[in-house]
Amino acid sequence: MSMRPVHLVTPSASEPAVDHAPQLSIIVPTYNERGNIRPLLERLHNALAGVAYEVVVVDDDSPDGTADEVRALAHEQDNVRCIQRIGRRGLSSACIEGVLATVSPAVAIIDADMQHDETKLALMLRRLQDDGLDIVVGSRFVPGGGVGAFSARRLRLSRVGKFLSRLVTRADLTDPMSGFFVMRRTFFDAVAHRLSGKGFKILIDLFASAKEPVRFAEIPYTFGTRIAGKSKLDSHVMVDYVSLIADKLLGGLVPTRFLFFIAVGLFGVFVHLSVLGLAFRMAGLGFYVSQMVATFMAMAINFQLNNIVTYRDRRLHGLDLAKGFVLFVLICSVGAVANFQVAEMLYDNGVFWAMAGFLGAVVGSVWNYGVNTTLTWRAAKR
Ligand code: GDD
Ligand code: MN
Repeated sequence: MSMRPVHLVTPSASEPAVDHAPQLSIIVPTYNERGNIRPLLERLHNALAGVAYEVVVVDDDSPDGTADEVRALAHEQDNVRCIQRIGRRGLSSACIEGVLATVSPAVAIIDADMQHDETKLALMLRRLQDDGLDIVVGSRFVPGGGVGAFSARRLRLSRVGKFLSRLVTRADLTDPMSGFFVMRRTFFDAVAHRLSGKGFKILIDLFASAKEPVRFAEIPYTFGTRIAGKSKLDSHVMVDYVSLIADKLLGGLVPTRFLFFIAVGLFGVFVHLSVLGLAFRMAGLGFYVSQMVATFMAMAINFQLNNIVTYRDRRLHGLDLAKGFVLFVLICSVGAVANFQVAEMLYDNGVFWAMAGFLGAVVGSVWNYGVNTTLTWRAAKR
């Protein structure tokens, strides 16, 4: 057997080691982008003459076979590879794992669907290097940039998002929602362990996780129109976004899922009292029956809301939904008993009634949250 270690770098005193790392690693998160990969690679090739770069596609096991397409293209071109994640979803976490798989001093993030302007990459890289910056962001909202065919609704959403981002980024970014930027690897390494990795908005996560003010510049670009495939922006993305901001504001002290669970619970109290009022005062049902109807309604609505918001990533459907509801009711009933017991015990021992009631509710909520998270909305097995 003969082996030729052609790429092995053996440093010696007389000959300094050669750095074989590319100058730039380009991370491309994908979900169902099969038809966009080849044209994207062609465009990158045309835009980056003279730059030593590699492309790392991070695909979340797209049903359309995006990963297979990337691997096929990797036979034609040696600077392309694919990270295929199984049983995982998420744009931000995909980007993070892509970066971690590279060693270049500069890293770019760009969408696969060619809505970002890859011809700006070389300029962005140069600015990063020449001006000693941490990050150079492609922005739609500096002079020379644009949003192309954006709907009025998306523009409005984008404005609300920008306002919220100010709460955590501490930087005057014109386009904090941008998913198109080039950053220095040392900057990424400095923040990596504090990243939340949730949702869609990796740029905000990076800025909010930095301890020092971030040295950044913005380069205008025009957001293009998607030709192949579909956008993945849906209602999930908004909840994920709020979740990211809450996570950053609370410094990860309380799991955001628990906050959503409590918010849904408080809404349940409101539903309960409203239904009770309607049934008892307006419909003239007896108090006992009214209270039962109200309890059931509140539980049903809480269950649905938790299924849609709190556990959106583990959402139940069909028969599982029905089974989940039965389990939810059982678990919450046990939680209620624990609540009564603790509150009564405290009250009997001289604790002020409101405090006793509150602590009982805390114990009940923590039980409900913990057990429902492990049983009703159990994490996927893999
Ligand atoms: N790995 C992975 N996992 N990739 C994903 C996922 C996911 O769960 N969801 C989306 N992607 C990939 C898409 O395949 C695409 O390459 C890129 O992430 C952006 O998704 P789009 O669905 O095309 O997003 P968009 O066009 O609505 O949003 C764009 O505009 C925003 C500007 O406000 C994106 O560029 C955002 O990054 C950008 O912030
Ligand atoms: Mn897109």
